[in-house]
Amino acid sequence: FSAFLTDSFGRRHSYLRISLTEKCNLRCQYCMPEEGVKLTPRGQLLSTSEVLTLARLFVQEGVEKIRLTGGEPLIRPDVVDIIAELRKLGGLKTIAVTTNGMNLAKLLPKLKDAGLDLINISLDSLVPAKFEFIVRRKGFHKVMEGIDRAVQMGYNPVKVNCVVMRGLNEDELLDFVALTEQKPLEVRFIEYMPFDGNKWNFKKMVSYQEMLDRIRQQWPDLQMLQTGHTDTAKTFKVPGFKGQIGFITSMSDHFCGSCNRLRITADGNLKVCLFGNSEVSLRDVLRSGSSDEELLQIIGAAVGRKKKQHAGMFSISQMKNRPMILIESAPDMS
Ligand code: GTP
Ligand code: 5AD
Ligand code: SF4
Repeated sequence: FSAFLTDSFGRRHSYLRISLTEKCNLRCQYCMPEEGVKLTPRGQLLSTSEVLTLARLFVQEGVEKIRLTGGEPLIRPDVVDIIAELRKLGGLKTIAVTTNGMNLAKLLPKLKDAGLDLINISLDSLVPAKFEFIVRRKGFHKVMEGIDRAVQMGYNPVKVNCVVMRGLNEDELLDFVALTEQKPLEVRFIEYMPFDGNKWNFKKMVSYQEMLDRIRQQWPDLQMLQTGHTDTAKTFKVPGFKGQIGFITSMSDHFCGSCNRLRITADGNLKVCLFGNSEVSLRDVLRSGSSDEELLQIIGAAVGRKKKQHAGMFSISQMKNRPMILIESAPDMS
């Protein structure tokens, strides 16, 4: 495995998350402030050929999984072509997207043909009015249709990401678990994380332990499942249910020790940790006409500086980062 993608703690970074746009057709409260965020001018965003050049280089060095994120990746007009080009690289075991699901139903056949392997869909409420309150837009039924179509097309499991926030959607935990009875979904409950402008505070976070206790009261025979070494979620199943549930415990029980993830933001910065504020511009290196070797030196140096773990939830909540939308989730100020 490439020394450039191995950090000083021996972690091998074989999973690359590429943000394809800073824009989004929703305005989720936990992702961006109400007023939106300032968008990077178009010329400073990675072009499609720059995205593919970087992807090729990372794959050559051992990346096996690429996840396309945003903003909302499915609003990028050439997302299907990008997936097809990634597939042609040959070395990838998995091409995935994380989407808000709004454009999914209509794009699914093309995405599948292009070679998309895995789909994660954000959904934070099963109550249409509450969904609209959280995402500050309409669209609940479109997202549900996207989830159902993905299942029909054979994606299994389709992962549903639910950010749990106290006083907002915590009362829907059991309803989300019940959704896995008939559908082959993996519903993942995510601890609410602090990012710039999302008004996080400790009291709004519902911990893994608390969620698990509540679910166990209803389903005492909940079984823990085996997970891969680098998985973000701890997974469980109610016996007899078609799907399963998971918990992403970045706050109460971080999984930094097995982190295999690197990120490229839409403006071309390499971000070695979701919660780190040190970034290096690969776009500028690319545009200066540097060789692959020079790019790799810069990538290697950034990976080499990656910290052992994030700084803890209180430190993170006070440090300067980006709003989530500008890391990987999706605002449209236009
Ligand atoms: P799989 O590839 O299906 O395992 O998905 P994933 O969990 O890697 O990605 P997804 O985009 O579905 O993200 C789900 C949640 O995990 C989001 O809240 C992410 O922010 C969080 N997450 C993803 N990568 C990291 C990471 O490197 N560190 C931390 N702490 N959280 C992460
Ligand atoms: N806390 C936890 N998860 C978040 N996501 C976006 N913002 C936050 C946050 N503040 C999730 C989205 C999406 C994934 C990429 O990250 O729900 O599914
Ligand atoms: Fe919500 Fe942010 Fe994803 Fe858009 S990008 S759907 S605002 S989490």
